[in-house]
Amino acid sequence: MTDVITFTGRTPIKQLLAAVAPLTELTVKGWARTVRRGKDVAFIALNDGSCCATLQIVLDPKLPNYEEVSRLGTGACVAVTGALVASPAAGQQWELQATLVAILGTTDEDYPLQKKRHSFEFMREIAHLRPRANAFGAVFRIRSALAFAVHQFFREHGFMYVQTPIITASDCEGAGEMFRVTTLDAEQPPRVAGQIDYRRDFFAERTGLTVSGQLEGELFATAFSDIYTFGPTFRAENSNTSRHAAEFWMIEPEMAFADLAADCQLAEAFLRYLVTFALNECSEDLAFCNERIETGLLAKLEALAQATFETISYTEAVKLLEKADRPFEFPVVWGRDLQSEHERYLTEEVFNGPLFVTDYPQEIKAFYMRRNDDDRTVAAMDLLVPRVGELIGGSQREERLDVLDERMRTCGIDPAPLNWYRDIRRWGGCPHAGFGLGFERLLMYVTGMENIRDVIPFPRTPGNARF
Ligand code: 4AD
Ligand code: MG
Repeated sequence: MTDVITFTGRTPIKQLLAAVAPLTELTVKGWARTVRRGKDVAFIALNDGSCCATLQIVLDPKLPNYEEVSRLGTGACVAVTGALVASPAAGQQWELQATLVAILGTTDEDYPLQKKRHSFEFMREIAHLRPRANAFGAVFRIRSALAFAVHQFFREHGFMYVQTPIITASDCEGAGEMFRVTTLDAEQPPRVAGQIDYRRDFFAERTGLTVSGQLEGELFATAFSDIYTFGPTFRAENSNTSRHAAEFWMIEPEMAFADLAADCQLAEAFLRYLVTFALNECSEDLAFCNERIETGLLAKLEALAQATFETISYTEAVKLLEKADRPFEFPVVWGRDLQSEHERYLTEEVFNGPLFVTDYPQEIKAFYMRRNDDDRTVAAMDLLVPRVGELIGGSQREERLDVLDERMRTCGIDPAPLNWYRDIRRWGGCPHAGFGLGFERLLMYVTGMENIRDVIPFPRTPGNARF
């Protein structure tokens, strides 16, 4: 690790644990994981979040506040000055011989985290201490590193970062799952002819939280060629599953001059890059996840970094599912959407690796996807991965205005509010394609966490927005 310059006069513990020689006069600050008092010495296992490991602090009874410090409880916050010396104890190279300990925050008796392992569900109930648990420390450090990797990938590949609005009037996916944004009086909204009069609302029309930045992204792609968005999206779908959150982050690249094949190539390169980045930059945290969260995680990620991604059409997928020698809860019928059990069967049991499924029936996909020459399917792709199922959803976009208009009519979408979107097709339209990668789904895949709530710092799901 290169030396980190902090603004608060502390040396990160991660940096100290990687030291190559003893050091004098340095200060660490952090939270006690444990405090052990022996006969004429006491120890604090100190963690500051810079890494999973703790630094052993050795307390000499000659310290002026030895009595107080050696009786601190788990969770207490201290600043320790001292010398980094070789540790005689097994399993650790260094320890810090304290010369000065300042107590910054004591803890009440009822600190809820015990030394034993707690369930992830229990931890969700104490969101203020959850990030101090090892597993969540690992997950959130990986989350931070991968957010950075997203930007780095696109910067290296010449994509422009565009911030699309969070409040919007358009339901991009057309699934009617938008959270309403309004300043109207909920008790007594203004009405005309019995209907709520949104012209008197803040934006003078019905608005909500965005479900996707894609439509705006398409506009920017027809000016900057290759763009991406990375931001929060919101869906009021009332599905309380382990893979759906009401608020989640999505990365949506959009490329002008691209067809579905180019879109799949980008998705594959992107995922490979992110996984490789995690393997290189988060090895310690991934080792922890491999041991405590998903057995075989590292082997899976290393395999993905090398794997060829298979591609099959939706129609081929349906044939494989019909041939499956096991029952499914939901029947497999051409024209119906694949359920998560179908997706997982394909990626886990048939292909045992990442799988693109392409060319879905147009009826089950959003209005903006490009119609294929067979007039029944669209140039769509989903990338399925083991354990998570759908990680990426994307498509080539319908660039032919007449076809788009016809599709919007069939879907019952009023074209007028989307004229700005339709107009891309009138003034220098071009073939273009893009996809959305659910950032939390990626984190589930990379960390092995099985519940999406456990990769989100403050999850929002039906019935839960407490912390
Ligand atoms: O397949 P989706 O709905 O596609 C779109 O939103 C397109 N506008 C993307 C595009 O082409 N630009 O969502 C994309 C991805 C899914 O594959 C999934 O990973 C994730 O977003 N996702 C969710 N993640 C967590 N909670 C939810 N409720 C999610 N819904 C979708
Ligand atoms: Mg999808």
